[in-house]
Amino acid sequence: MLILAIETSCDETSAAVVVKTDYEPFTRVLSNVTASSLPLHAKTGGIIPEQAAREQVKYIIPVIVEALIQSNKLQTNSYREKFEKSQKIFQNAIDAIAVTVGPGLIGSLLVGVETAKTISFAMNKPLIPVNHLLGHIYANFINSKLNAITFPFIGLIVSGGHTDLLFFRTHNDYKWLGGTRDDAAGEALDKIGRLLKLSYPAGPEIEKRAKLVTKTQFLFKSPLLHTDDFDFSFSGLKTEVARFVNADRPRTLDEKTINEICFATQKAVIDVLVAKTLRVAEKYNVKTIYLGGGVSANQTLRDKFNSSIINHKSSIKLFAPAKSFCTDNAAMIGAYAAYHPQPTPWKSVDSKPELYFS
Ligand code: KG4
Ligand code: ZN
Repeated sequence: MLILAIETSCDETSAAVVVKTDYEPFTRVLSNVTASSLPLHAKTGGIIPEQAAREQVKYIIPVIVEALIQSNKLQTNSYREKFEKSQKIFQNAIDAIAVTVGPGLIGSLLVGVETAKTISFAMNKPLIPVNHLLGHIYANFINSKLNAITFPFIGLIVSGGHTDLLFFRTHNDYKWLGGTRDDAAGEALDKIGRLLKLSYPAGPEIEKRAKLVTKTQFLFKSPLLHTDDFDFSFSGLKTEVARFVNADRPRTLDEKTINEICFATQKAVIDVLVAKTLRVAEKYNVKTIYLGGGVSANQTLRDKFNSSIINHKSSIKLFAPAKSFCTDNAAMIGAYAAYHPQPTPWKSVDSKPELYFS
């Protein structure tokens, strides 16, 4: 089955062609093309939704055309030629369209969803609506060398907008166990980064700066670390760092101090993510954990998971997507659709900015 996947939930315009065969347990990516309006948002230190939607309008068709052309490894000279050839590829080779319907920014989502609906209608191809958050978990099932997906598993989604723990029995049977009560893990890193005047989004720079620190006295609390539930909360951490920087004892933010704040911030976030996820796995007697979302690109998070698993002499196995598939991309949307190929009539597909877990 060949799927054209479209992802436009936030500031990335992404299209991919993925293939799933009966003789391979994983989804192969034939192309994955992403245009990002991030540099624009970096200037304001955050996303302006209307601007993100306008950028989506600009990129959606060229990105789809490019994904189709690259999936066929075609050499073309002009955009016009590309456009015509991509239509033929779509008509002849693509079995279905997958599209992110939510959660996300309404303006951004509308661009992808309405484009996918129009193509589905005009070219008479089945349409598969996809929850962006589940896509982040299915990024694990792309181009993998492993030979099976192991059920049951715990999924931890850690992105700029969400922090959620899920328990999967099968592809079609999952349960939400807990999530953030306020800011998402990535959102907290980005907001703290803004306070420290780091680049946006701040997660990658915080990780880099934290790696330079070998010793520090700075210590921030890991919120809800010891509660019995599987919830998270990160807005208090942001306030704690803000107070530390500004109110209690105004500090000079020299490079060394910034690096140490990054280290302590990242540690507070990682410690609670790892502890609660391993506790969930223990409670449900699950031996497999799949991470997903932008923050799961963080190597220190992956290392902390692995060292905690070893320290607990646990037989849990941790998996995370290839780093290029952690942040938003269309390939993961195609991967989810490959395991849930039931189409929905285009008339019943709508953008759902508030979509969560059913
Ligand atoms: O999944 P994603 O691309 O978008 C959402 O669906 O939200 O995640 C973006 C988030 C941002 O908050 C960014 O700071 C964070 O992922 N991020 C990282 C790293 N790379 C991206 N956080 C920590 N370490 C990283 N290496
Ligand atoms: Zn995402």
